[in-house]
Amino acid sequence: MKGLVLAGGAGTRLRPITYTSAKQLVPVANKPILFYGLEQLRDAGITDIGIVVGDTHQEVRAAVGDGSDLGIQVTYIHQPQPLGLAHALLTAADYLGDDDIVMFLGDNLIEGGITGPVDAFTADRPDAQLLLKPVADPQRFGVAVLDDAGGIVRLVEKPADPPSDLALVGVYLFTPAILDAARVISPSARGELEITDAIQHLIDGGGRVRASVLDGWWLDTGKKDELLDANRIVLGSITRRIDGEVDADSTVTGEVVIEAGAVLRNSTVRGPAVIGADAVLEDVHVGPFTSIAPRCQLTRCEVEFSVLLAGCTVRDVPRLEGSLIGREVTITRTARRPAAHRFMVGDHAHLELPEG
Ligand code: G1P
Repeated sequence: MKGLVLAGGAGTRLRPITYTSAKQLVPVANKPILFYGLEQLRDAGITDIGIVVGDTHQEVRAAVGDGSDLGIQVTYIHQPQPLGLAHALLTAADYLGDDDIVMFLGDNLIEGGITGPVDAFTADRPDAQLLLKPVADPQRFGVAVLDDAGGIVRLVEKPADPPSDLALVGVYLFTPAILDAARVISPSARGELEITDAIQHLIDGGGRVRASVLDGWWLDTGKKDELLDANRIVLGSITRRIDGEVDADSTVTGEVVIEAGAVLRNSTVRGPAVIGADAVLEDVHVGPFTSIAPRCQLTRCEVEFSVLLAGCTVRDVPRLEGSLIGREVTITRTARRPAAHRFMVGDHAHLELPEG
């Protein structure tokens, strides 16, 4: 069985972060989202993994390399254009050969790993095995209709009027029959070869398609608030570990990770929170559900429920919360006149200032 992880796509809903970074590499609890999926595949015994990459291939290659650090062997497959999940699968056809496939969308985070679904698939070997999760906004996903016995009757991609609230989670198990189905379907209204349509084709041809409902959480990290929420949930399961330097005037409370090389001076960190390697915090309060990436420099500020990417500088900002801040960003206060807000921000940035 091979893994196929999709790490192309433009990530338009996470702009401006994704202008310079692949959406699958945005960190949650200081670890790229993509790594959670790769580790879950590995933990389910799948170490031969193809990663489908697009425009951001260099960055993905730089982060994952040959996979040996994660205990996997990675083959990169270049998808020239993001023409859909079934198109990505076809692009990988030579790599996949006659093997069974676990296809894992690189921006999906699921709780509890995939050992259960992989074992169930291996025992019974249906043509496709899907994971479903009830959601509040099914029109944003592929949606499944089940019969009374729990069998799949129909799948529909992003329905305006959803026939159920059961969304298709981005982890799919297939026999190679899915490749033949992907070859005969036509592009959808959004111009993509949809995996949902390929699976529907299997169903229409009498193929065996199974589904189970995922017990744990499933996080789609496509937008800022979802990403902050994913960070909150993943931080909820970390264990305290302090490898950095905490001076006598600092307090670290609860489940907090402070990586080696990080320095806290006269600061408090209230977990769950992670402080990356070589970050320097001076006269700072870090509140719960915050991830500070490596090399950030924070001085005289308070940060809570936020994700700061590598190399940020934040100085004299009394309160920052609900924020996602890209790499090497600087936010400071100045005595310069005229007293005003001065910004240099990228396209599609989002700034909120308090009233008054
Ligand atoms: C894709 C699939 C959709 C699935 C979702 C899970 O959507 O087309 O069926 O529910 O992933 O994340 P997309 O990310 O292309 O909008």
